[in-house]
Amino acid sequence: MTTSGPTKIGIIGFAGRMGQAVATVARERPDTRLIGGLVRAGTIQLTGPISPVNEKKESPLRAEKAEDLFPLCDVLIDFSNAAATADYARAAAQSKRPFLSGTTGLGPEALEALREAAAIVPVLHATNTSLSLAVFKRLIEQAARLLKDQDYDIAIHDSHHRWKKDAPSGTALTLGQAALKGNDGAREPSYSATRAGAIVGEHTVLFAGTGGETLTLTHTITDRRVFADGAVHAALWLTRQPAGFYTMNDVLNV
Ligand SMILES: NC(=O)c1ccc[n+]([C@@H]2O[C@H](COP(=O)([O-])OP(=O)(O)OC[C@H]3O[C@@H](n4cnc5c(N)ncnc54)[C@H](OP(=O)(O)O)[C@@H]3O)[C@@H](O)[C@H]2O)c1
Repeated sequence: MTTSGPTKIGIIGFAGRMGQAVATVARERPDTRLIGGLVRAGTIQLTGPISPVNEKKESPLRAEKAEDLFPLCDVLIDFSNAAATADYARAAAQSKRPFLSGTTGLGPEALEALREAAAIVPVLHATNTSLSLAVFKRLIEQAARLLKDQDYDIAIHDSHHRWKKDAPSGTALTLGQAALKGNDGAREPSYSATRAGAIVGEHTVLFAGTGGETLTLTHTITDRRVFADGAVHAALWLTRQPAGFYTMNDVLNV
């Protein structure tokens, strides 16, 4: 789907930490326009009361129903909750709008819903929308491939803020899949996690041999804006793609 003028962005999980970070980016970029976002009915919102649709779109719309928001947007960006993503993917397909989900901890049903929606509209799922994470993933895959025939354990540790719901993180699991891809499933990684303070996100992958050496690769994000920048960049890319299921690797061509 292509449009002229700024790309109109709608956010699912608008009042959340990531929703607000994406809103800031969508407001600031000259090539995007923040239409508004979905907030959950009946809960206390960080961003104030729900406003009616503003015809001039001077202030972002806060909607409680997908059908009130999705048709007004060129692309939807979801940072909500694993239990909610499937329904929003279906609603995006129904509204014929590209759908990017950065929500983590998705179960098989939600992933299946994304795949089904991808038959109708462009869909991208990324457990980490940072641009350099895609490169990090490739490095892990390559290291696991090079060490495949050696006796090295693979240990993945993620550190995040105290409010994060899932552990290990979606990114940790994605890195584990990259390692398994590299070593053809020869050695399963182990996982551990720290949930403390306001840590935005750090992932360490350790390749540990038995002869007195370790190889440690670490990816650190100190500002949530990194995820938001990557998500908006990917959402703009998504509006130019045909229906299908995509990842950040496709966006970055890595
Ligand atoms: N892909 C990435 O790069 C990346 C980066 C950071 C975070 N994440 C993931 O993004 C998601 C959101 O993270 P966050 O830190 O922004 O969390 P958050 O601050 O808790 O925000 C989540 C938002 O989703 C809303 N929500 C919760 N349940 C919902 C439901 N059933 N239907 C509709 N909306 C619902 C919440 O509304 P209420 O306030 O009403 O509960 C809240 O506004 C998590 O899965 C997190 O792991 C991904």
